[in-house]
Amino acid sequence: MIEKNAKIYVAGHRGLVGSAIVRSLKEKGYTNIIGRTHHELDLTNQAEVFRFFEEEKPEYVVLAAAHVGGINANQTYPADFIYINSIIQCNVIKAAHDQHVKKLLFLGSSCIYPKMAPQPIPEDALLTGPLETTNEAYAIAKISGMEMCKFFKRQYGDDFISCMPTNLYGPNDNFNLETSHVMPAMIRKFDDAKKANAPFVELWGTGSPLREFLYVDDMADACVYLLENYSGEQHVNIGTGKEITIKGLAELVKKVVGFEGEIKWNSDMPDGTPRKLCDVSKLHSIGWKEKVDLEEGIRREYEWYLAQDEKDLKK
Ligand SMILES: NC(=O)c1ccc[n+]([C@@H]2O[C@H](COP(=O)([O-])OP(=O)(O)OC[C@H]3O[C@@H](n4cnc5c(N)ncnc54)[C@H](OP(=O)(O)O)[C@@H]3O)[C@@H](O)[C@H]2O)c1
Repeated sequence: MIEKNAKIYVAGHRGLVGSAIVRSLKEKGYTNIIGRTHHELDLTNQAEVFRFFEEEKPEYVVLAAAHVGGINANQTYPADFIYINSIIQCNVIKAAHDQHVKKLLFLGSSCIYPKMAPQPIPEDALLTGPLETTNEAYAIAKISGMEMCKFFKRQYGDDFISCMPTNLYGPNDNFNLETSHVMPAMIRKFDDAKKANAPFVELWGTGSPLREFLYVDDMADACVYLLENYSGEQHVNIGTGKEITIKGLAELVKKVVGFEGEIKWNSDMPDGTPRKLCDVSKLHSIGWKEKVDLEEGIRREYEWYLAQDEKDLKK
């Protein structure tokens, strides 16, 4: 049971994931949430991190700060991805241990699983085969963070847990077409085409791959649920367990945006992996299920997108 006035530090509180976790904590009545921007506290600086924990003494920690990026950035700067993420995790997890933090939640990413993992992917597929090479450096850092939580629990009895959220979407998503994920990219393309009265929108690939999407506020709700109710050694997948083809997703986004033209598929562009779905039976057995269905989630994300200043989104 977490006291409503317990001091909870959300590392990365302005990011897509961290900001949703802060919203969810506030909604559930938590009143003492703290955060620091990258500028205020550089988590790669061990002395600063240790000083911050000593001064603030947070009782609970959510580690949602990370150096993240798309395929391009991951392939060009793998040393930065492994170094920055490893050092952030080492600093925060060790400081949390030293300052007797009551519980810590670490956020993993779906790239942690082997490239050829069985579908849907169960938690115990971790470390059973080679990784996808494009973001291997990032994945190795993430796996080491998850394993670190497990081993601090095993050796010291620290209540440090980790989770693996599937593809997320929602407010604060990245709509820059050069670096964005599929959902915000589609929203942007259909909206641009609608405003320009364009006859068609071109999308990459064949549309046949299957993907799973989770609304970011549902993910945050699940994270808070795990903080409140889970203390196992193994990480927990957070997803819906439901999949949709990219073609099906495009039809839904088109409908929500209200674009009336055609969709053209550019099959010269790569499709990516044919299927990627989490096995969420563990999450369901702990007692959590998503609340926002895909069409409703897309509607909320599109409303948020329309409310933003155009120049902010194109950055
Ligand atoms: N997005 C997804 O679909 C998804 C899915 C599964 C898992 N995840 C995981 O969730 C975590 C967060 O991802 P996100 O999508 O929320 O990323 P994001 O929007 O880029 O946010 C990252 C946050 O980390 C902070 N940060 C980065 N480097 C820092 C440093 N050196 N010192 C202090 N703060 C630093 C940033 O602070 P500032 O705001 O101050 O710059 C920012 O708030 C990652 O571990 C990611 O793997 C994300």
